[in-house]
Amino acid sequence: MSFYIAGTGSALPEKVVTNDDLAKFLDTSDEWIRTRTGISRRHVLTTERLQDLAIRSAKIAMEEAGVSGADLDLILCATMRADTFTPSLACAVGEAVGSRAPSFDLNAACVGVLYCMEVADSFIASGKAKTVLIVSAEAMSKLLDWTDRASCVLFGDGAGAMVVKAGEGRLAGVLSTDPDTHVIRMPNIEGINSPYNQVEQEKLAMHMDGGEVYKFAVNAMGHNIEEVCKRAGLTPSDIDWYLPHQANLRIIDASLKKFKIDKSKVLTNIADCGNMSATSVMVLLDEYAKKGIFHKGDKLLFVAFGGGLTSGAVIIKWNKE
Ligand code: UT7
Repeated sequence: MSFYIAGTGSALPEKVVTNDDLAKFLDTSDEWIRTRTGISRRHVLTTERLQDLAIRSAKIAMEEAGVSGADLDLILCATMRADTFTPSLACAVGEAVGSRAPSFDLNAACVGVLYCMEVADSFIASGKAKTVLIVSAEAMSKLLDWTDRASCVLFGDGAGAMVVKAGEGRLAGVLSTDPDTHVIRMPNIEGINSPYNQVEQEKLAMHMDGGEVYKFAVNAMGHNIEEVCKRAGLTPSDIDWYLPHQANLRIIDASLKKFKIDKSKVLTNIADCGNMSATSVMVLLDEYAKKGIFHKGDKLLFVAFGGGLTSGAVIIKWNKE
């Protein structure tokens, strides 16, 4: 038994920051950001809490799926930074939707939603769950070095959710890691108030070697697409819709080029949202689902890469009309 997607939702912060807004305090330009990345604007948290966005997106997905909190058997949240270390974001969402289901956060950087899908699949396959809420919420703006033009222009904040139910839908999945702790790194706080270990705190912001990440991304996305198609008994041209991680339009183009895929099958929203880490593919899915472009039986391929270095791909058959 695998799962199908029964409902989706998303929520973005109100504030929109354009490339020109960034050029007011950074040595950058709209032209550089658009041509190098495909990004024009992104949403950024101001006074909203991340968990409020997560809860809003979860409620939309649950209403669409026709499920209440009592129907959920598991809540998974993909995030790198919940509002609190504890409770987890998944517990905050569970409280808001009236669920007593086991709930936990999962950090696989930008690949988090794919990891959640595979965990949900295992719970469902083993009979431990029938209905799972998967949420992703990322506050990238709180993790960035806003003086580093090579990284802070790339990211945005947001949340998305999906309800998956036991049934035919997921065709195959692949997750992998090429361990590298240097090319993308965001230090955690070293600890406070310990009289026993006074450590010097590393700068609490993202450090990234963009060029190295770029090379990894193009290889990993291509490899994961080949592998997941093989596991599903399909070829890349059998896929109806590609939902790639929205890190850089040039990475998406370069990794899909060899498969000679019709560009209209490759969905993007990077121009308006930037890179929202794990949340990118969730918001992308919800946006295009709401536009009504998916039809029953369509094969959707999710593919992502991120810090760790993690990567993965999942193919799902769309079950709704
Ligand atoms: O979810 C995963 C997270 N990370 C990623 O996805 C990052 C993947 N990497 C990338 O997307 C690209 O490598 C970047 C967008 C980060 C950089 O693009 P690039 O084409 O690899 O540019 P570059 O690093 O080779 O830099 C070219 C020039 C440099 O100037 P010089 O040395 O040629 O004078 C940079 O200093 O562009 C400069 N530069 C900028 N200029 C204006 C870097 N960032 C900016 C900027 N505005 N924001």
